[in-house]
Amino acid sequence: MDYFNLVDGRLHCEGVPLDAIAEEVGTPIYVYSAATLVRHARVLREALAGLDDPLIAYAAKANPNPAVLSTLAREGLGGDIVSIGEYRAARAAGMAPETILFSGVGKTAEEMTEALGGGLLQFNLESVEEAHMLSAVATSLGREAPVALRINPDVEAGTHAKITTGKADNKFGLPAAGAVAAFKAIGDLPGLKVTGVTVHIGSQLTSLAPLEAAFTRLGTLIGELRREGFNLEIADLGGGLGVPYGAGQPEPPSPDEYGSMVKRITAGWDIRLAFEPGRLISGNAGVLLTRVVRVKPGENHPWLIVDAAMNDLMRPALYDAYHQIDAVRPTGKRMTAHVVGPVCESGDTFAMAREMDEAHEGDLIVFRTAGAYGAAMSSGYNSRPLTPEVLVDGDRWALVRQRLDLAKAASLPLPEWLR
Ligand code: LLP
Repeated sequence: MDYFNLVDGRLHCEGVPLDAIAEEVGTPIYVYSAATLVRHARVLREALAGLDDPLIAYAAKANPNPAVLSTLAREGLGGDIVSIGEYRAARAAGMAPETILFSGVGKTAEEMTEALGGGLLQFNLESVEEAHMLSAVATSLGREAPVALRINPDVEAGTHAKITTGKADNKFGLPAAGAVAAFKAIGDLPGLKVTGVTVHIGSQLTSLAPLEAAFTRLGTLIGELRREGFNLEIADLGGGLGVPYGAGQPEPPSPDEYGSMVKRITAGWDIRLAFEPGRLISGNAGVLLTRVVRVKPGENHPWLIVDAAMNDLMRPALYDAYHQIDAVRPTGKRMTAHVVGPVCESGDTFAMAREMDEAHEGDLIVFRTAGAYGAAMSSGYNSRPLTPEVLVDGDRWALVRQRLDLAKAASLPLPEWLR
């Protein structure tokens, strides 16, 4: 559920009409609803009630805007981060060190040094080689680094191939079969303290079965490791629960169904559980607001050319992802159109033959469920500025990322011989 609703024929984000924002800031622009972010955090917390002190560490990569992180930090969420940039953003937003998990296959020694110095709950390591690097970093700092190893359970997540992470031929984690040996190999390294285990098998999962299989495998491993004498404190179950993208799209299980499954599978584990939801928290809390630049007649359907493009929202181009399209002032009339951006690539296509609200040149439309992996993945392709972002909270709203002209913001000096 979100807080984007029609009020008197105009699409609002909470108490603010979207056309008023477009009028003031221009388009394209991301608009986020604080109430929706908070609601999603609370729904998940309630679904996990009954577990002993679960940690919900929001996957910052989904939407690392400081205002979003700050809203979630105030709700008590921690952060799952994958770069030192995300670490700094999470800390600046008020996320406490003991709520931060550092994921990712390619952490550098510099990143490890800064995160260990600043404090965190756990490094989620993905290889024994990475453990050696962290051991050297921790030893040189005279610190002890809390670590988990991520296992790759080799399960089919049933999601898009590019966002599947728990198959044997994905780069992530260590094969579950060799995990005990890997834990033994890192257990004796100086400067490391083994605190946990972790698994994450993919994103936008619409079935619980693969998650259940992965968690069951993790449970077996926890038993094996304890028999080997490891004192495990944290089992991090990753993120990945899907969200509804609109009518006709696969319906994901509810957070409650997810929570019940987790409680059933982990009963008796006697360990603190951590979760890394990204999309579940921010996906439906954002829209990409865009204006129709032109309607060009097409062979079968008209081309609706909007001022947003693949650089603003990459998901359709990258994953053939579906985003529901709604008019900001719907008339009740419908049309079938191809919805595209102005970028010079055929992949700059948001939807083909989409049945949608009728829209004409100059009208505002939104792409729904764009709060996760939208602005976060945007670029300046075609020398387009980075999409601005707005956060709405009740009747108030604020620009939380400026429209950024990268050519002006970055230093792009000409070499002396070209001046
Ligand atoms: N934890 C780890 C270790 C992850 O790699 C991810 C996402 C998450 C948590 C959060 O997953 P979520 O709860 O959001 O599904 N750009 C793609 C999604 C990439 C997900 C990458 N990892 C998309 O737009 O669909």
